[in-house]
Amino acid sequence: MEKSETLKDGKKVTIRPLTLKDLDRLMVFYRSLPPEDRKYLRVDVTDRKVVAERIRLIDQGQVFRIIALYKDKIVADGALELSADEWRRHQGEVRLIVSRPYRRKGLGMILIRELYFLATARNVETIVAKMMRPQKGAQTIFHRLGFREEALLPDYVRDLTGKPQDLLIMICKLGDMWTELDQFYSDSDWERCR
Ligand SMILES: CC(C)(COP(=O)(O)OP(=O)(O)OC[C@H]1O[C@@H](n2cnc3c(N)ncnc32)[C@H](O)[C@@H]1OP(=O)(O)O)[C@@H](O)C(=O)NCCC(=O)NCCS
Repeated sequence: MEKSETLKDGKKVTIRPLTLKDLDRLMVFYRSLPPEDRKYLRVDVTDRKVVAERIRLIDQGQVFRIIALYKDKIVADGALELSADEWRRHQGEVRLIVSRPYRRKGLGMILIRELYFLATARNVETIVAKMMRPQKGAQTIFHRLGFREEALLPDYVRDLTGKPQDLLIMICKLGDMWTELDQFYSDSDWERCR
């Protein structure tokens, strides 16, 4: 799968699966993220070994990773992680990060839509998104897609500076998510002009 998409500012980006061959590009992307963004990620993405290990998980078939590239440079990264546990087989967890200069141009929604397609093809019923409380942009985008706050676990995780943070778990049925995604695009002048 490789797609060309147009952002709200007219820039064309390519969306495609991530592979191990992208490791150098991915490290450039992660290392360019400001500490304020990196500190809420679940692993230290400046550690090449950790990042390579995560890419290798793709081969096990439980994790799907996609990237957005502008002129061969990674500008966003998204993942759908399926649970190997029987009791959570119906769930898929989504994660994404967009580089700051590319935010509020519709790229997050484009990635979520692609992750939605991947989830549909794998019979996922429920989509889960987990974030720390300060990640306000994430909460807004997931609210907009019909996610509800399922749980708030006080001081459950630590950010990369070691500070305890509340973990927010947001959930949405896949079918409901499509209704909202569809609505987002039909409300959008940008999408009508594409
Ligand atoms: C959350 C994130 C992925 C959004 O990416 P994005 O490319 O800016 O999202 P979009 O441009 O597609 O935004 C779609 C809509 O979501 C909402 N939204 C997104 N970011 C927002 C923000 N910071 N504040 C308020 N609303 C926001 C808006 O309704 C927006 O539509 P609009 O721009 O037409 O008003 C991005 O801010 C990010 O990478 N944050 C850091 C990492 C993170 O929190 N990841 C999620 C954890 S799983």
